[in-house]
Amino acid sequence: MNAPVRKAVLPVAGLGTRFLPATKAMAKEMLPIVDKPLIQYAIEEARAAGIEDFVLVTGRGKTIMEDHFDHAVELEQVLEARGKTRELDIVQDAMVPPGHLAYARQQNPLGLGHAIWCARQVVAGEPFAVLLPDDLVKAEPGCLAQMIEAYNDVGGNIVAVEDVPRDQTNKYGILDVEHDDGRLARAKGLVEKPDPADAPSTLSIIGRYILQPEVFEYLDKHEKGAGGEIQLTDAMAKTLGTVPFHGLRFKGRRFDCGSKAGFIEANVAFALERPDLADGLRETLKTYL
Ligand code: UTP
Repeated sequence: MNAPVRKAVLPVAGLGTRFLPATKAMAKEMLPIVDKPLIQYAIEEARAAGIEDFVLVTGRGKTIMEDHFDHAVELEQVLEARGKTRELDIVQDAMVPPGHLAYARQQNPLGLGHAIWCARQVVAGEPFAVLLPDDLVKAEPGCLAQMIEAYNDVGGNIVAVEDVPRDQTNKYGILDVEHDDGRLARAKGLVEKPDPADAPSTLSIIGRYILQPEVFEYLDKHEKGAGGEIQLTDAMAKTLGTVPFHGLRFKGRRFDCGSKAGFIEANVAFALERPDLADGLRETLKTYL
């Protein structure tokens, strides 16, 4: 039987330069989709998949997230005094049980691989999930739950994948596929941000991973890859041959909320599913089109 995935690492130490000036004094992961911050969507997806313990890899300017997942005593007292029980529930539902949310600090944003490496003591030799909160996946069941189901069959490392237009392969980690049943693609190689002409496929990795702890053997070396950053894809690629590696074509829709266009699209898509907003928004949107 495959060892259960109980822990999740959420790297949130990036600078979020594409969202300046919004991210000058505020974390990108606190940007809301309708009324909930990206980081909360990611934690909720992970909890729904059975994850019990969380590690947020933070950096400068990210302490706002510690407050978000803590009690807001004054606010809660006011909501209670005013009988706003629905709002009180919303505020309290954001919280993770005490002792199940840890923070690791990435002092320098040296890349995603380095951010994951910063969580190694908390992961402590177990398989673990990684969720990048700026990739928001609208799916039922959630993307990570679908991956854990696949993991229970095939084990090893699993990433969520989707096909991208060939001219966009230079934005993603891309799989070199040796076997593909249409749902699960077994990889024999991985390339970070290949030029479209060199890309071995168009199957791109999105921000959801299930990883075996062997990946830390390679992250320990701090080797730089594409863009001069310590890349997670490179460390995963080194485990090929010793750890099985699959890409799961998840069912659902992914929004790249690290980009302005994806962020706006996600807001529209999520708002159109809200009974309190959908009708009015549909009418408003028509006036712009
Ligand atoms: P991005 O590539 O989106 O970078 O990181 P970014 O800095 O957040 O945003 P831009 O490109 O400057 O606008 C993908 C994920 O990896 C995390 C980010 O927080 C995000 O969740 N990350 C990236 C780190 O935690 N540390 C790093 O050194 C780099």
